[in-house]
Amino acid sequence: MSDAVTQGGTGMPVNTSRTEQPQVQTPRSGRLGVNAAFLQEIKEDNRHLKDLWDRLLPLLSHPETSLNHWGEIIAALAELRDQLAIHFSLEEAYGYFDDAVDVAPHLSVEAESLKGQHSGLFAQIRDLADQFAEVDLQRDGQVDKVLRKFQAFQAEFQSHEESELKLILNSFDDDIGVGD
Ligand SMILES: [Fe+2]
Repeated sequence: MSDAVTQGGTGMPVNTSRTEQPQVQTPRSGRLGVNAAFLQEIKEDNRHLKDLWDRLLPLLSHPETSLNHWGEIIAALAELRDQLAIHFSLEEAYGYFDDAVDVAPHLSVEAESLKGQHSGLFAQIRDLADQFAEVDLQRDGQVDKVLRKFQAFQAEFQSHEESELKLILNSFDDDIGVGD
């Protein structure tokens, strides 16, 4: 699937999803469902994204460490922004699908909500990448401020990923009729 996914992706920052997302429970002709197997594969295949997080988190855990690696952090955040653009667009192209008539309503509501989070998460990492690049390291408080913002973003991203994993599991269960 990887080849098809790569070719189908648009490559770089994908802005289309930012404007098209209505809020949850807007009337629609069908339901939003997830291709649980594809969504799971996108997550498991994304080695590059995982490596990036592993590289970044230790650098951002203490202000002193961060200061000593500021250039590296700026480059890694720009990379994270680009990787997340690809990650979200792959998930939206292959992990979610419209008009899923067989999807249980509660799963569809959850899918709408989670897919809708992508645009906000991408906006945050895009702004963070800019803000880190613009920080004046001589000015008190600036480093702490962007580090706190990054931590808030990381927590939100992690929670999004955990919820999507839960949705994948629930969708598999739904497919085999567990809990019906
Ligand atoms: Fe996602």
